[in-house]
Amino acid sequence: MTFTIAIDGPAAAGKGTLSRRIAEVYGFHHLDTGLTYRATAKALLDAGLPLDDETIAEKVALDLELAGLDRAVLAKHEVGEAASKLAVMPAVRRALVKAQRSFADREPGTVLDGRDIGTVVCPDAAVKLYVTASADVRARRRYDEMIAAGESADYESVFEDVKKRDERDMGRIDSPLKPAADAHLLDTSKMGIEAAFQAAKSIIDVALKR
Ligand code: DC
Repeated sequence: MTFTIAIDGPAAAGKGTLSRRIAEVYGFHHLDTGLTYRATAKALLDAGLPLDDETIAEKVALDLELAGLDRAVLAKHEVGEAASKLAVMPAVRRALVKAQRSFADREPGTVLDGRDIGTVVCPDAAVKLYVTASADVRARRRYDEMIAAGESADYESVFEDVKKRDERDMGRIDSPLKPAADAHLLDTSKMGIEAAFQAAKSIIDVALKR
């Protein structure tokens, strides 16, 4: 069996950066599962298809190719908003979870990050991390990223969006965002990426020795 690391947490908690770093250091394949929801949303938006028709959205999700998912192309705020709406649809989740599980089986190891990896997608993962930070810290990070990318942004509306996204992710019936019972909690509110990586590394190294 391959070695899987499941990383969950709310938007802008730092799990993307942490996951990429872990995958690079251990030589594991990495899948940012948020991109599967985003790519499905973008395909619907680009084709002018509705975002509230579960049958159409499921069909697009079933046709999704995991190769070539690119955060730079899928980063836009409205794509994230649309993705969060599709993420409440059980048929869309079923289709994407199937693709995510087959990715998780790759050798020699995999890192998957998202909202339901430790609870639903890979409940038997060797390591589960739940990465979080206060809503204020996450909104500040997202705001700084948008400004650095040359987008216009105001902090108050970014903060409101972060809270709304949390409510939607944590409040949905199917696979809500929550830590798995056996997840290690990593609060990055007052921790830089290096400290978060070192904390994760100690947990992973112990699991690798088992
Ligand atoms: O992490 P992100 O912002 O790229 O995710 C976009 C949306 O996709 C997010 O609002 C919730 C959804 N998502 C999900 O429901 N389950 C996952 N495993 C990953 C993302």
